[in-house]
Amino acid sequence: MERIKIIGGRKLSGEVEISGAKNAVLPVMAAALLAPGRSVIHNVPRLRDVDNMLGILGFLGVRGEFIGDHSLALDCTRLTASAAPYELVRKMRASVLVLGPLLARLGRAEVSVPGGCVIGPRPIDLHIKGLRGLNARVEIGHGYIKAGAEDLRGGEIYLGGRFGSSVGATVNTLLAAVKARGRTVLINAACEPEVEDLAGFLRAMGASVSGAGSPRITVEGKKELAPAEYTIIPDRIEAGTYLIAAVLGGGEVVLKNAVPDHLTSLLNKLQECGASVTSGKGTLAVRGGGELLPADITTLPYPGFPTDMQAQMMVLLSRVGGSSVITEKVYPERFMHVSELIRLGARIDLEESTAIIRGPSKLSGAPVMAADLRASAALILAGLIAEGETVVDRVYHLDRGYERMVEKLRGLGAQIRRII
Ligand code: UD1
Repeated sequence: MERIKIIGGRKLSGEVEISGAKNAVLPVMAAALLAPGRSVIHNVPRLRDVDNMLGILGFLGVRGEFIGDHSLALDCTRLTASAAPYELVRKMRASVLVLGPLLARLGRAEVSVPGGCVIGPRPIDLHIKGLRGLNARVEIGHGYIKAGAEDLRGGEIYLGGRFGSSVGATVNTLLAAVKARGRTVLINAACEPEVEDLAGFLRAMGASVSGAGSPRITVEGKKELAPAEYTIIPDRIEAGTYLIAAVLGGGEVVLKNAVPDHLTSLLNKLQECGASVTSGKGTLAVRGGGELLPADITTLPYPGFPTDMQAQMMVLLSRVGGSSVITEKVYPERFMHVSELIRLGARIDLEESTAIIRGPSKLSGAPVMAADLRASAALILAGLIAEGETVVDRVYHLDRGYERMVEKLRGLGAQIRRII
C-alpha cells in the first residue's frame, strides 16, 4: 500500500495553483442527472471521490469522459437504473446526493444508506425531511432509502438540525425541488459556497433558484431542464490547507486561483494569530515565519470556521506558544488525528468535543496513520515541520480530496514523496 514519506524542516516558497472544489463538483455531477443530454463541467479536480461519483453515475447509465485534463462530459441521455447499490455508496458518502435528482427525473430512487464513518455518526434525517417536504414518499428498509413520487410539489421546508444546517440535505432537497411543481422555500439552508456553486449550475440548466448562499433559498420548479456547461469554483479547503502549510513553511508562498472571500473565517483566525496573509484578486500571499499567538476556535457551518480545516489548524497551533482551544461543533467526535499528532510530540488534551493544545511543541518525525481525508492532510503538514522522517500510511484518504498534493508541495520545496 502506498505511503508518503516526508523529511521535515524544509522552507516552503513559490507558487501553488488551487484545484477545483471537491465539494462543489460532486453535487454538480449529481445535478447533471436532472436533464437528458450532455453536460460539460470544467475545472474538475482529478480525485478519487470524482472517480467514485463517476462510478455511481456510470452504474445509473451515464456516460462520463474527461475531455482534456480537467473538463468532464456527462452524457445523461438515457438512465438505465434508479438505484445506487451499497458496494458503490460505501466508498463515498456523497453518493447519497443522487437521491434528489433521480427522484426528480424518474419519480423513484433507491440509495443504500451511507454508514457512519470515523468522524462520527452521520445521520440522514434532514435529507429525508427535505424530500418528504416535497411530497415524496421516503422509507428506509433493508439498508436502502427508497423514495417515490408521482407528483413532486413545492413547499416550505425548515432544514435546521441538531448541528445547524446540513450541506448534503440542502443539496438533495434543492436537486429535487428544481423539478417540483410550484415554489419551494428552504429555510435554514446551508450557506456554503458549494451550495451557491450548485445553484449556478442549476440556473445554467434553466432552473429558477434564488437566495443560494443565504439561509433562505427559493426555487420555482420547472418541468424540464437542459444540460449545461459550467466551471467549478476553486477548493477553499485545499487553499486553506496550503495557507497553513505556507505559514508553517517559513518562506513566501502565493496561492493562485483561490477565492479569499470563501476563506474569511480562516484568514481572520490566521491574522489574529499574527500570520502575514495578503489577499489579491484570485490570489493569497503568505509570508511565513515569525512569532504567532494562540487561538480559540469553534467550528461551525459556513461562514463559521470550517470543520474541514480543524485538523490542519491544530497542527499550526501546536507550534504556537501558550494554550489554544478548538471546539468542534459540526462533528463533535472528529478528533481521530489527535492521537497521531501526540505521537509526533504535540501536547493535546481532549475534553469531549474540545481540544486544548499546549505549545510550542517541537514535533519529531514518526510513522503515523491517516484516519480520514482532512486528518491525512494534517499529518502531512505535521510531517513538513517535524524533525527527521515522517511516514504517513493509508494515504488513499488523501487521494480522495487533494489533487497531486505531493507534487504541489514538492513544487514549493518540500522534501516529500510517495513510497510503496
Ligand atoms: C459536507 C462536506 C464535508 C464537510 C461537511 C460539514 C461534501 C461532499 N462534504 O458533508 O466535507 O465536512 O459538509 O461542513 O460536501 N446532519 C444531521 N442530519 C442530516 C444530515 C446532517 O444531523 O440529515 C448533521 C451531521 O451529522 C453534521 C452536520 O449535520 O453534524 C453537518 O453535516 P452536513 O453539512 O450534512 O455534512 P455533509 O453534507 O455530509
